[in-house]
Amino acid sequence: MAVNSFFGKSYISIDQIRNRGQVEWLFKVADKMKLKVEKREVYEPLKGYSVAVLFYQPSTRTFTSFVAAAKRLGAYVTSVHGMEQFSSVTKGETLEDTIRSIYQTTAADVIVIRHPENNSSLVASEVSPVPIINAGSGKQEHPTQALLDLYTIYHYQGTMDNLRVVMVGDLLYGRTIKSLAKLLAVVSKKTKLTLVAPDELAAPAELVKALKKKLTVVETNQLSEAVIKNADVVYMTRVQKEWFEAAGKMDEYERLKDNFILTRHMVSKMKKLAMVMHPLPRVGEILREVDEDGRAKYFEEMRSGLYVRMALLESILIK
Ligand code: CP
Repeated sequence: MAVNSFFGKSYISIDQIRNRGQVEWLFKVADKMKLKVEKREVYEPLKGYSVAVLFYQPSTRTFTSFVAAAKRLGAYVTSVHGMEQFSSVTKGETLEDTIRSIYQTTAADVIVIRHPENNSSLVASEVSPVPIINAGSGKQEHPTQALLDLYTIYHYQGTMDNLRVVMVGDLLYGRTIKSLAKLLAVVSKKTKLTLVAPDELAAPAELVKALKKKLTVVETNQLSEAVIKNADVVYMTRVQKEWFEAAGKMDEYERLKDNFILTRHMVSKMKKLAMVMHPLPRVGEILREVDEDGRAKYFEEMRSGLYVRMALLESILIK
């Protein structure tokens, strides 16, 4: 019987997932949340609890699904989008003082944070009296996205093992693929990972080295038919414009952004039960014509975020 390893703890890195039992626990809770949402059942185990959601970077999915998850569970929710613009950060307040402040002003029981710095959630957790949930940090981690991605894969493939997963796009700056690849390395047996990126955006060498200890990993700079035809999952990602902007490398972005574009014709070569995924937003790397194909699962993938984030909030706050 799986146990709740999330109770009372921050969830800041996929490295905290040490075994499959932790994930199986959470997925069972997510299944429960899915049923309750589908039946429009009122289920408010977090009534009286306070959840603060602080975003220092843009977001559509993660922000709204965390807010919706906390509200559905009955919590008081304080949510701030645009912390970098509208909070006292503009006056020079440190992340540490902001976390201490939000804890006091909202009587938070848990604080969800998205921030551009890689170590932001760790820094927040070191000063926070309550658990921190990482909703995306820098170029390194998006650990709740990895859980919802795997939940989606598990739902459609019926297994976490023996998968052929192809990850495509910006594997250097993208944080979703890093977290998902690391999660697969912990929980999945006999899985083959194919990493498809332009040479300039290849996954960091130390990550690939670590993944190879657990998974079969192949790297290529070509999104060919041979690569996708046996895949169970083709996970597309966008080239991360914001990091090129910050580095003053927009010429490089323009050169690389359309390297891999998934078309309906390409998807037609995939297995019938294969899946096309994307953490979104997409900015051209999956043509809209693919949306009509039953293998396109990137919209359902977002709904998994609601169920998994509900499961995580409940598991962290209720024993
Ligand atoms: N997948 C994801 O993180 O999307 P948002 O940036 O819209 O939250």
